[in-house]
Amino acid sequence: MSMIMDRISLRLLHAFLMLLLHLNPALGFISGVGDAKVRKGLVDDYDILSSWGSQDQKKNCCKWKGVHCSKHTGHVLELDLRGDSEKTQPLRGKLSFSLLELHHLSSLDLSYNDFNMSQIPEFLGSFNNLKHLYLLEAEFGGTIPYELGNLSHLESIDLSANNFNNVANLQWLSHLSSLKEFVLNSINLSEAYDWADVSLSSRDLPPIAPSTHTHFNYSKSLTTVDLSDNHQNSSIFGWLLNFNTSLVEIDLSSNQLSGQLVEFINILSGCAKDSLEILDLSLNQMTGSLPDFSTFSSLKQIYVGTNNVTGTVPEGIGNFHQLEVFDVSNNSMHGVVTEVHLSNLSNLWFLDLSLNSLALQLNKDWIPPFQLRVIYLSSCKLGPRFPSWLQTQ
Ligand SMILES: *[C@@H]1O[C@H](CO)[C@@H](O)[C@H](O)[C@H]1NC(C)=O
Ligand SMILES: *[C@@H]1O[C@H](CO)[C@@H](O)[C@H](O)[C@H]1NC(C)=O
Ligand SMILES: *[C@@H]1O[C@H](CO)[C@@H](O)[C@H](O)[C@H]1NC(C)=O
Ligand SMILES: *[C@@H]1O[C@H](CO)[C@@H](O)[C@H](O)[C@H]1NC(C)=O
Ligand SMILES: *[C@@H]1O[C@H](CO)[C@@H](O)[C@H](O)[C@H]1NC(C)=O
Ligand SMILES: *[C@@H]1O[C@H](CO)[C@@H](O)[C@H](O)[C@H]1NC(C)=O
Ligand SMILES: *[C@@H]1O[C@H](CO)[C@@H](O)[C@H](O)[C@H]1NC(C)=O
Ligand SMILES: *[C@@H]1O[C@H](CO)[C@@H](O)[C@H](O)[C@H]1NC(C)=O
Ligand SMILES: *[C@@H]1O[C@H](CO)[C@@H](O)[C@H](O)[C@H]1NC(C)=O
Repeated sequence: MSMIMDRISLRLLHAFLMLLLHLNPALGFISGVGDAKVRKGLVDDYDILSSWGSQDQKKNCCKWKGVHCSKHTGHVLELDLRGDSEKTQPLRGKLSFSLLELHHLSSLDLSYNDFNMSQIPEFLGSFNNLKHLYLLEAEFGGTIPYELGNLSHLESIDLSANNFNNVANLQWLSHLSSLKEFVLNSINLSEAYDWADVSLSSRDLPPIAPSTHTHFNYSKSLTTVDLSDNHQNSSIFGWLLNFNTSLVEIDLSSNQLSGQLVEFINILSGCAKDSLEILDLSLNQMTGSLPDFSTFSSLKQIYVGTNNVTGTVPEGIGNFHQLEVFDVSNNSMHGVVTEVHLSNLSNLWFLDLSLNSLALQLNKDWIPPFQLRVIYLSSCKLGPRFPSWLQTQ
């Protein structure tokens, strides 16, 4: 019964898409031969939908491109209409309400299409079974609907690189109790201060705007926060304090974070001390010296390149047996890097010490425990003799 329902609604969806999809201007050269032909060209050219149709041989919607059904029940579980990231052939138009009839849907991917600055429809909040929602770079505008907070089974959401006009409030996120991955990059979040409701009495971090929300209840399972490239300032730190979860990955690269690196690391050690594996703070304006990260027992990848970090490389880094990536490039660090720093790092594969005033002093017959795949040492003092350990790499 529901299989039939799903097929009917998919057919509705199909009819709707056929109505609303417009030819990509890039293909405009085919036009000039009349609208009908252009539309026909659409079906053929848009590989995505060429398999969709009501002709006998195309009736099984589970065989349509981008449609994945349950083998047992026949319910449509996944709809993957992701365009290509070059955006040469996006679907264009607006999302249809009839989509809602696919109520078993657990994964929806409409990334890299062109929704013409329309708002993400509120009805998406009604997909009770949705676990994955990917709408990146899809030309959505307006605001992010609060109703997305109703997606109680949502595990991952990526709304990056859309054109929302005012992201002032992300409180709806706090209801997503199954969320593991939250990606929202390349979006102007400079007004999203309302969600940072914890004040920090620090002279180095800017004050956080007072908030009307007092109780946040962030997901216990959230593991990834990716807010890179968002024009975000240090107010974000207060927001991170709301997570008493097990964050595994924090990517705040390419923002406008300032203040002492050490202070931020102290904040993080309150909420991610045993879980954090990847920390990316590159391309910000963080100052002060590098902490030794010793409270983070699982840290594997440290990126703090292109900030205003000063001081020396702490010897404590040498204890990070599990360290894979160490990038402190393009800061104002000085001092000497020795075997104490490197001799236990057997898992290191990426080392970037470039564009600082660092010197490497290693025994001439030192044999590194690691096999690097990437090493940058420009501006480092290596001499006087050729660092023979490099030959082992
Ligand atoms: C895009 O939106 C504009 C303004 O709302 C409208 O005029 C235009 O018809 C829309 N284009 C498509 C393809 O829906
Ligand atoms: C979301 O849930 C609230 C109640 O928690 C309800 O009032 C609202 O209508 C729901 N919105 C959607 C889009 O389902
Ligand atoms: C907040 O968390 C508690 C305990 O995990 C849970 O019982 C409650 O429903 C949550 N509230 C909201 C609004 O998600
Ligand atoms: C971000 O939004 C703020 C406030 O709306 C605005 O002043 C600023 O110019 C925007 N930044 C960019 C890069 O668009
Ligand atoms: C950070 O952004 C918030 C919100 O736009 C603003 O109120 C605050 O003044 C900013 N802080 C700094 C240091 O720019
Ligand atoms: C975080 O959770 C732990 C237990 O999981 C608890 O001991 C600690 O007090 C909590 N911290 C905050 C700031 O809520
Ligand atoms: C960071 O360093 C650059 C040049 O090294 C300087 O122009 C800038 O003012 C510094 N920023 C901060 C926040 O200290
Ligand atoms: C490296 O590991 C050895 C044992 O595996 C330990 O004795 C030594 O203290 C470690 N060195 C550093 C700098 O952590
Ligand atoms: C180094 O940092 C400066 C700003 O401090 C930036 O302009 C420059 O592009 C960076 N260089 C590299 C190679 O990242």
